[in-house]
Amino acid sequence: MDSYSLSAAAKINLYLEIVGDRPDGYHELVMVMQSVGLADRVTVRRLGAHEIRLRCDHPEVPSDASNLAYRAAALLHQRFPKVMTQQGGVEITIQKNIPVGAGLAGGSANAAAVLVGLDMLWQLGLTQIELQTLAAELGSDIPFCIAGGTAIATGRGEQIDTLHGLDGLYVVLAKSPTLSVSTPWAYKSYRQAFADNYLDVATASQTRKAQLHASPMMAAIAHQDGPAIGQHLYNDLEKVVLPAHPDVKAMKTTLASCGGLGTLMSGSGPTLFTLTASQAAAEGIVQQMRSHYSEAELGLWVAPLLPSSLQLLES
Ligand code: C5P
Repeated sequence: MDSYSLSAAAKINLYLEIVGDRPDGYHELVMVMQSVGLADRVTVRRLGAHEIRLRCDHPEVPSDASNLAYRAAALLHQRFPKVMTQQGGVEITIQKNIPVGAGLAGGSANAAAVLVGLDMLWQLGLTQIELQTLAAELGSDIPFCIAGGTAIATGRGEQIDTLHGLDGLYVVLAKSPTLSVSTPWAYKSYRQAFADNYLDVATASQTRKAQLHASPMMAAIAHQDGPAIGQHLYNDLEKVVLPAHPDVKAMKTTLASCGGLGTLMSGSGPTLFTLTASQAAAEGIVQQMRSHYSEAELGLWVAPLLPSSLQLLES
């Protein structure tokens, strides 16, 4: 095959707790991640030339080595130096639907799709664990974007344990088209404001204690209990992002008043989501939100929760 196209889904965080500092400068996290049905299309196509090229239809997405998807291909090339001579180079094409700088892991999903697509194109025969280990070198969210579905993520966010999938639930995603939040800024601001609360993550019992905080959410997921999941949605980063962006805080109040199961900011934001028990309920919330915000003021999407992140569309 000379080309593979994959659908690469966005993620939301149903739970994000910052446990403490890590010696590597990152934060120790306990997160529950969930794939949602808003996806980019990523194609890897064999090139005669021994090089990596990247094209994206979104003007704000770089096409050089600052793009995680490009770096994913460069990492595989570095680890398998002979592969381009044997198999040729690659052109990566990204068709963007996931908003950029949104807290939805769009860039990470693209990089995950490149790792999986190139594993097929270059016939590397890597296992999912091997792909996730490479993914962790590129970014904390990418191992989850390879696994997808519903998962608990610990460590930097790169240690993934898959949970029972959630059937039949939907989300309304809401993002201001003009606003994006820098993830390093959000974590740095959190450290400045809340470092006094950090647990000593070098102590295993402290980390276990932190994981216990997430247990009501885990129980709700195990019971497929939508209302309980809605009730236990939690994100520490809201404590710094919402005060810095009063307009996002106001949007959250409005979205939460529309009658879903629960409303939360995803990742470092600014995307907000409301969980619903059905597609019809989600569409009803979109209609209500449209009486408050125009399309220029707020992007709104209805998406099902998905059992996986990557799907092969064409080869
Ligand atoms: O790993 P990734 O490149 O996606 O992380 C982006 C930024 O988010 C990091 O540079 C760091 O500032 C912050 N971060 C963190 N702790 C984590 C994950 C991310 O501080 N566990």
